[in-house]
Amino acid sequence: MAGVGDAQLRDGAALLRVTDLEVDYPTKEGVVRAVSGVSFDVLRGETVGLVGESGCGKSTTGRAILRLPAPSRGSVHFDGVEVTALSFERMRELRGRLQMIFQDPISSLNPRRRVRDIVAEGLVIRGGGGRAEVAERVAKALDDVGLDPATAGSRRPSEFSGGQCQRICIARVLVLEPELIVCDEPVSALDVSVQAQILNLLASVKASYGLSLLFISHDLSVVRHICDRVVVMYLGRVCEVGPTERVFQRPAHPYTRLLMESVPGAAADRPPGDRAKAELPSVLAPPSGCYFRTRCPLAVDRCATETPVTREVAPGQYVACHLAEA
Ligand SMILES: Nc1ncnc2c1ncn2[C@@H]1O[C@H](COP(=O)(O)OP(=O)(O)OP(=O)(O)O)[C@@H](O)[C@H]1O
Ligand SMILES: [Mg+2]
Repeated sequence: MAGVGDAQLRDGAALLRVTDLEVDYPTKEGVVRAVSGVSFDVLRGETVGLVGESGCGKSTTGRAILRLPAPSRGSVHFDGVEVTALSFERMRELRGRLQMIFQDPISSLNPRRRVRDIVAEGLVIRGGGGRAEVAERVAKALDDVGLDPATAGSRRPSEFSGGQCQRICIARVLVLEPELIVCDEPVSALDVSVQAQILNLLASVKASYGLSLLFISHDLSVVRHICDRVVVMYLGRVCEVGPTERVFQRPAHPYTRLLMESVPGAAADRPPGDRAKAELPSVLAPPSGCYFRTRCPLAVDRCATETPVTREVAPGQYVACHLAEA
């Protein structure tokens, strides 16, 4: 529906496997189903991009994986463990391995604390390890993100630029030696010149720490550049999933084609003329059948009555659309 279905989940041991994820927000106007049956997976060492226009549920999906807040329904499997079923205590243990960085680095750092204490915080909460060991690990993390531990450690966040603050946020996460980091628009708040530096840093720490990344972004050029696989969302549902180059070159869902129209050089051989009609519907009252049908230039009667389920249209490329062809 944009659709439901889990055909896009790969066999074997994915590091993260999200199945039929749903997140409801109770509001005065009614229940907002921000995420509605989302399934995808991330293999070890992979960078998976989560894209779609504002309000489609990207951040909600990323946060639900870490139970910030927990999903209303569905499964989050991390390295063989069902995250949604963990006790508070076991979840705290897992938090080190599963981390998140956010869009606005400055506001996510406590302005009153020194950088070395901010970076050490996760280690201190986790306990174990003496002061010397903590100091050593903090110094290594700062060094790994390109900050001089000797000078940066004793300063406070306000003494740093936005890009440097994002480096501090990355150090704070790396110190816990995570396996997967959910990156929610990690460079969107930064100057263009600084964005490339932070993306390069993420690529280098990904290699040196053996990380997997779930990379949430509305910047499709960045996603194309750094992601192995891409998941396209619309109104809380998955439209399309596939290898990044394939999806950019040959988007199969009408919504993906629409998104790609904004990216120079992408989708060069897509059929021309797919233009969205109408406004983005409200999540409080989504359309029947396919959620995208009210804006879809190709919609037929069936789209109003039947929810499309994801199916493979080319090797590794899955689409939730009744009409899509490879
Ligand atoms: N705490 C909340 N209470 C009620 N509704 C919410 C809440 N947080 C998000 N929403 C709604 O859930 C939907 C998904 O929001 P979300 O922030 O996940 O989207 P997003 O894809 O990350 O958007 P953006 O690109 O703007 O960051 C939106 O309709 C949003 O208004
Ligand atoms: Mg968001």
